[in-house]
Amino acid sequence: MAETFTVLIVGGGGREHALGWRFAQDPRIQKIWFAPGNAGTAKVGSNLPISASDIEGITRWAEKEKPGLVVVGPEVPLCAGLADRLRQVGIRVFGPGAKGAQLEGSKSFCKDLLVRQKIPTARAGSFSNIKEALSFLETLSCPVVVKADGLAAGKGVVIAESHGEAKQAMTEMMEGRVFGEAGARVLLEEFLIGEELSLHAVTDGKNLVLLPSAQDHKRVGEGDTGLNTGGMGAYAPAPRATPELLLEVEKTILRPTLAGLAALGIEYRGVLYAGLMLTAEGPKVLEYNCRFGDPETEVLLPLLDSPLWDLLLAAAEGDLSKVEVRTGAGAAMTVVMAAPGYPAQPVYGQRIEFGEAVPDTAIFHAGTKEGKGGVEVSGGRVLAVTGWGKDLKIARDRAYGAVSKIDFQGKHFRRDIGHRALGKVVS
Ligand code: AMP
Ligand code: GLY
Repeated sequence: MAETFTVLIVGGGGREHALGWRFAQDPRIQKIWFAPGNAGTAKVGSNLPISASDIEGITRWAEKEKPGLVVVGPEVPLCAGLADRLRQVGIRVFGPGAKGAQLEGSKSFCKDLLVRQKIPTARAGSFSNIKEALSFLETLSCPVVVKADGLAAGKGVVIAESHGEAKQAMTEMMEGRVFGEAGARVLLEEFLIGEELSLHAVTDGKNLVLLPSAQDHKRVGEGDTGLNTGGMGAYAPAPRATPELLLEVEKTILRPTLAGLAALGIEYRGVLYAGLMLTAEGPKVLEYNCRFGDPETEVLLPLLDSPLWDLLLAAAEGDLSKVEVRTGAGAAMTVVMAAPGYPAQPVYGQRIEFGEAVPDTAIFHAGTKEGKGGVEVSGGRVLAVTGWGKDLKIARDRAYGAVSKIDFQGKHFRRDIGHRALGKVVS
């Protein structure tokens, strides 16, 4: 009999649905669980009533059910040591341990490593003493970037237009503790100018495999205006990411990062997701994430032609050297449909109507749950609707074609995803 596999996916957003969707296309995969999943993941596997940050609950479940692999979606359980706990009990995990996850969990840990490895990044200082922070502030010209050191659900970065604004942000973080302990230490950073690029590398700690480049749209409104969000859409590949640029990033950024982690005795098995700024002086690191991006995953996985299982398992087992990864020649775009009022005060509970399916698209659920009368809105980002095809324009037409079939009260989505690559478009 052919070998079969089972997998637990930790998390409950569009990223986790996309991971499950890709696994479900692999005939060798017999069973997919999600902790906790959403209304969409329930269609490709079984949802467990365990929260993604319940480290002990997940560990107990895994010891009993012995999944062939655990893939951890969000950063919070990784930073809290979920991968370490699972490895302790002999379960294979895709995702770094708590020490490696500090790349995302502590901006000063990340900055120290970048500086030590001479990796291009914004000049910065890290402070837990506000007086020292204020005197460093005097050395920076505006705008200045103020960052809470710890995890703040993507909200801990303030771009201050004046020293007064920077001082206020620092005071709120360090003294007002608006982000709790995450703001006890802050990073003050010079502002970099350029276009942003997301680059995902799957790594076993020594070898790395690059996935297609991507760009996301963080602001809630069209023309990149309004509040920052978890991401309102993404596309891949990014036209700016030429093969030469990718080689340069691998050589000057990703490999020295792995070497820096190894020098600390950290064996990093998971995704190294570099947030880059393409400046006039070349690519520089804005931040690292220790996991797949959301909504980037929703455009990267449709472009992956080789099996996801083989790639993630090999990284989890510590040897990527024999894995062949193929990505398609085409492009993909995802459009996030959000709840009304997102991100400040999202309104939940509306019934979602899905029309007929559109070929070469997928609807990834994020904030949804099964209600009495059908699928309901239960989170700020509700759906990530992805289209793919031979080029980005076709991918966009398909994604928006699929979006037009979906309805719920107060739905909000941007009509200009991909505008940097395609120009101003879509009515
Ligand atoms: P981060 O969480 O560090 O990626 O910051 C969130 C967003 O803030 C980034 O995606 C950038 O748009 C912006 N940002 C962060 N650091 C800088 C910087 N040094 N210069 C310009 N923009 C930045
Ligand atoms: N799309 C940004 C993130 O996943 O952090």
